Amino acid sequence: MLVIQKIADLRQALVGKQAVALVPTMGNLHDGHLSLVKLARDSGAFVVTSIFVNPLQFAPQEDLAFYPRTLEVDCALLANAGVDIVFAPTVEEMYPDMQGFVVEPPCELADILEGEIRPGFFIGVCTVVVKLFNIVQPSIAVFGRKDYQQQLIIKNMVRQLALPIELWTGDTVRDVHGLALSSRNNYLSESERVQSAQLVECLRAVSDYVRSGRSDWPEIESEACDSLRRRGWQVDYISIRLCEDLGVPRRGEPLLVLGAARIGATRLIDNLEI
Ligand code: PAF
Repeated sequence: MLVIQKIADLRQALVGKQAVALVPTMGNLHDGHLSLVKLARDSGAFVVTSIFVNPLQFAPQEDLAFYPRTLEVDCALLANAGVDIVFAPTVEEMYPDMQGFVVEPPCELADILEGEIRPGFFIGVCTVVVKLFNIVQPSIAVFGRKDYQQQLIIKNMVRQLALPIELWTGDTVRDVHGLALSSRNNYLSESERVQSAQLVECLRAVSDYVRSGRSDWPEIESEACDSLRRRGWQVDYISIRLCEDLGVPRRGEPLLVLGAARIGATRLIDNLEI
């Protein structure tokens, strides 16, 4: 497995590769990432995993400086998972100038839920993802369903910009308590880690109510928020949405419930299809 920092070196290493599958990550890898790598590997394509903590998607008050950077361990995991190339550029390599050209997703998708709480977040994500797509020129790119809004926005971006890339989505991987794996779980104390399963339990309860026939969506959402708040969470949102476009729910259409909440200093997000 090659570990490459420079765009020019990566392009050189990819000359003649017919089918490339890209798994974009910010590193500090866990089994969730490795399951995406496995999907890429199973496609039979040449597999590139990028590791880049993208400053453009962090607001000034967020955790850019503290975001765990564990390149050596990540590379050992990726070598073991059969990755062909790790692309781990520096910030200077990815953004030699201040990034003046950006990709701005439509507000009806990008200014709701995560985008409402983290303004500009999806501009940062779309810009770096398009840049990675331009650099790697993959025929397949793999993203996790845990970041449902992110993968939906990227799917729309790929379709509307006619990028010649197939997008694959990997299922959320959970720990024994049900907590969705995320690099930010490393911020949790042992007791917070056990308590953190309450988020997915709450999403399951919402899903059960909807399956049992309730359609008083705002009431269900506010009951769910209250139940988490009573147990010490700071809730950003619990929201029932259409799977297709994250629009307001309609009976008979595929729905999901998305949640974001803070336990102590750690912000977690999760979602469940209903
Ligand atoms: O999901 C992530 O880890 C990041 O948002 C991504 C897609 C690698 C872009 O920086």
